[in-house]
Amino acid sequence: MLTRALQLLPPETAHGAALWALRRGLVPMVTPPSSPRLVTSFCGIDLAHPLGLAAGFDKNATAISGLFGLGFSFVEVGTVTPRPQAGNPRPRLFRLRQQQALINRMGFNNDGLEAVRARLAVRAPGRGPLGANIGANRGATDPVADYVLCLRGLYELVDYVALNVSSPNTPGLRDLQSRARLDELLGALIAARTALAGGSRAKPLLVKIAPDLAPDDEAALAEVALARGVDGLIVGNTTIERPEIVPGRYRDEPGGLSGAPLFLKSTEQLGRFYRLTGGKLALIGVGGILRGADAYAKVRAGASALQLYTALIYRGPRVVSRILGELDRLLELDGYARLGDARGVDATT
Ligand SMILES: Cc1cc2nc3c(=O)[nH]c(=O)nc-3n(C[C@H](O)[C@H](O)[C@H](O)COP(=O)(O)O)c2cc1C
Repeated sequence: MLTRALQLLPPETAHGAALWALRRGLVPMVTPPSSPRLVTSFCGIDLAHPLGLAAGFDKNATAISGLFGLGFSFVEVGTVTPRPQAGNPRPRLFRLRQQQALINRMGFNNDGLEAVRARLAVRAPGRGPLGANIGANRGATDPVADYVLCLRGLYELVDYVALNVSSPNTPGLRDLQSRARLDELLGALIAARTALAGGSRAKPLLVKIAPDLAPDDEAALAEVALARGVDGLIVGNTTIERPEIVPGRYRDEPGGLSGAPLFLKSTEQLGRFYRLTGGKLALIGVGGILRGADAYAKVRAGASALQLYTALIYRGPRVVSRILGELDRLLELDGYARLGDARGVDATT
């Protein structure tokens, strides 16, 4: 009902309305199925089930509690940049309803580090693990410094930090995935994190990658990530390609494509990264998860946790519960007692 009503509004207006309702507790809470088969963890963070909310839905950390109320086991806020920015001119978000997909070129519209920091600082104790996804301002002369600023500002307030080097909507951002640039970025961030941890166990640092990397760049990225000691990869962001999208309305709008047409591409990439990293890094699988079978395929490709965004737009507030119920049944049917037992079984064959 709510989902259908929101579909009648322009996409960004609908998104604003959904956040507003979530903030005010107007969206009914959903209790996800609880099953020992679904219990998992990534980077030492324990989860009752694998399904979290991907970055970009709650960029400004205004609706965290309502989002946990939808049943997500973890929530990632952001992308946050040091200074507030307005993002690209509207329209910048397009629904491809028939394909269960979105194209967006939001461009890191966000309230900026100080505002998000202030919100997180006064937040009631969390219902689950919280991640901060951080980035650089558009046109930043020293992007590495932007990431370090955000890491320092948010480190104490969250359970993990994800580096977004993969948004297609900030010119030059994706270049940070090249061997030399990523090495420099990770060197600076790991040093900053060590200082912040002050001798205690450091909080996990993950890198969120683009699905559009060339094979050589994927190998280099995996090498640098392992050598620098990041804890995990989020695989991945939206694609600038248009797989499975027939010519038609919005197909040629510039921006990142998410949802069903991204599923195969992102799942194959997940499998490649599982092999490239020898299963040593935590992998969060994201991209086109709309039903339990999609979630299961990502686990079998190598994911230990999962995230979604687009499915929430098309399937509504009960989507987490539905996917988990189906995933649990699929694990049971194949005789897996724990999700971890199914991790990577397709990637290694
Ligand atoms: C409107 C929109 C905004 C997004 N904003 C961000 C963002 O700020 N940072 C980020 O890392 N990913 C962002 N994403 C990407 C999602 O986190 C996710 O990686 C991608 O949508 C693929 O997952 P899905 O197919 O389940 O939507 C955004 C996606 C959409 C649709």
